[in-house]
Amino acid sequence: MANSSTSNQAGLSSTGMDRNLALEFVRITEAAALASSKWMGRGDEKSADQAAVDAMRKAFNSVRIDGTVVIGEGERDEAPMLYIGERVGQGADGSILDCPKIDIALDPLEGTTICATGGVGAIAVIAVAERGNFLHAPDTYMDKIACGPLAKGKIDIDAPIEDNIRNVAKAIGKDVSEVTVVIMNRPRHEEIIRRTRVLGARIQLIGDGDVSAAVATGIDDAGIDLLIGIGGAPEGVISAAAMKCLGGDFQGRLKFRNEEERARALRMGVKELDKAYSLEEMARGDVMFCATGITTGPLLKGVRFIPGKKALTHSIVMRSATGTIRNIEAQHSLEKKPGGFGSLGW
Ligand code: FBP
Repeated sequence: MANSSTSNQAGLSSTGMDRNLALEFVRITEAAALASSKWMGRGDEKSADQAAVDAMRKAFNSVRIDGTVVIGEGERDEAPMLYIGERVGQGADGSILDCPKIDIALDPLEGTTICATGGVGAIAVIAVAERGNFLHAPDTYMDKIACGPLAKGKIDIDAPIEDNIRNVAKAIGKDVSEVTVVIMNRPRHEEIIRRTRVLGARIQLIGDGDVSAAVATGIDDAGIDLLIGIGGAPEGVISAAAMKCLGGDFQGRLKFRNEEERARALRMGVKELDKAYSLEEMARGDVMFCATGITTGPLLKGVRFIPGKKALTHSIVMRSATGTIRNIEAQHSLEKKPGGFGSLGW
């Protein structure tokens, strides 16, 4: 039901994003999660990713939006589907004049290796903003720092890691030894891992999946207080959207491996290549975030198959305008899906 103070007759909020769209987006991430979950642990990253992409692309067709993918599977020549610039949704051909025009940052399978090995925290994810409101981050790296709402304003990507940990500890009322920092287990992070250990904070090293980990810093019982280190830039923008919804904090600086990547960023409209971007600069205005677990992780339970050709999914959907965080557990009767198993590409 539309909220009269913030919605017009078309059901759009005053900022143009229909809050009822949130449930539509859950259906999309559920479809991608269900499709790729069949590939869990089978050692085939490509098929797992393809299944998620196909299902997500197809699910967009049933949603009344005119969406543009701004963070996706790659540039048009690299990705046949969900490429950057692709228009998705029922209004993509311009035939529906009053449907919301939105930008979409997506990752149908965030954590391809996680899914292929049955590891921790693979998710299907989309974030949505009004047109022009996401940083168009190219497929390069990003230095990131993320924390939950209690420590908002207390992190600084340019400060020494020790200061960040101490400031977060103080803000959340913990001893440094009780703070848990998530860091991707990569050689590039040897130094920050060493310094965090010297300081005496707890560390959770992860192999992949820094979106789940970043978002988990904003979830009370996830047991993660801070994410720090270098990961994918597209994942950084998606994480920033989530942290905005959660009232947490996020900062990122693009890290280019070569001149070609810098040129690509300029082509994509990034004006300040070396700037430390704030959360607000990466995800402006009213944003929505939606994710479904593929394998169980710090944020979400993974897809579980139960007797009777049924599957359970766990999703989170949130919107920055209201700060509402919805956890949605669904039971899917797979045989009754429109198109049956075929709809999931199985
Ligand atoms: P994919 O889903 O594309 O495999 O990304 C997984 C991931 O671990 C991200 O969560 C993270 O941001 C990035 O890769 C880190 O990149 P790299 O593995 O090159 O260090």
